[in-house]
Amino acid sequence: MKPLPAQAQYDRLAPLYNQRWGAYTESTLRATLDGFTLRPGDWVLDLAAGTGELARRIADRPSPLRIIGMDLSRGMLVRGLGWRVQGDAARIPLASESFDQVLCTNAFHMFPAPEATLTEIRRVLRPEGLLTLTDWCDDYLTCKLCSLWLRLTDPGFHRAYTVGACRSLLEQAGFDVVETRRFKINWLWGLMRLVARRSEPGSRSGVPRSAPDGDAGGHDAGSRS
Ligand SMILES: C[S@@+](CC[C@H](N)C(=O)[O-])C[C@H]1O[C@@H](n2cnc3c(N)ncnc32)[C@H](O)[C@@H]1O
Repeated sequence: MKPLPAQAQYDRLAPLYNQRWGAYTESTLRATLDGFTLRPGDWVLDLAAGTGELARRIADRPSPLRIIGMDLSRGMLVRGLGWRVQGDAARIPLASESFDQVLCTNAFHMFPAPEATLTEIRRVLRPEGLLTLTDWCDDYLTCKLCSLWLRLTDPGFHRAYTVGACRSLLEQAGFDVVETRRFKINWLWGLMRLVARRSEPGSRSGVPRSAPDGDAGGHDAGSRS
């Protein structure tokens, strides 16, 4: 199978990644972990873990830390900590129903097969397991413009989503979206954070939409349910 362009791209970027993207990573991971709870004994998969900054930030949560970082790029992974696995998010090389939580930050826009990726995330989650997804949000005009630019110039970029489009993908893949939030970290980058629970056949919770499509609002929009 042909390697994805993101692999070589991030192998090249890896030595400079934390230096170049440190401030961005700090802001987005802080927002991702705001309200994130881990129960003792939870197994966590950090999908597209990069240099493992997320694991570093939850290393002081209930111990022992049971987190596996998975990423396409070996160059990024070697800078991480703990258990790490190389692989494509659309073919997760890990056992079914082995995680209580999956986190995926700043990477969903790179996945060329988002439906297959969500199916895989659902497969590795235990029933009622949670996915927390943070990524660029095309509800913001600045991000929409960046998306257009990146589509032309960045081989690793696939597409960014609005909250509504991301919610639809999640629901079609068998998740109940339980929380959505939109936020800006500076004038340029607008992001979204969605939390979704693996739904079981016949048990859809019918959680009401917490951020209607197109309600991008200002610097801080969205809600929790
Ligand atoms: C912008 S970095 C984000 C890293 C980390 N999640 C963070 O927030 O600091 C995107 C990461 O996604 C990884 N990636 C891209 N496409 C992938 C895929 N199909 N499967 C797994 N990882 C992928 C890249 O190798 C890179 O490490």
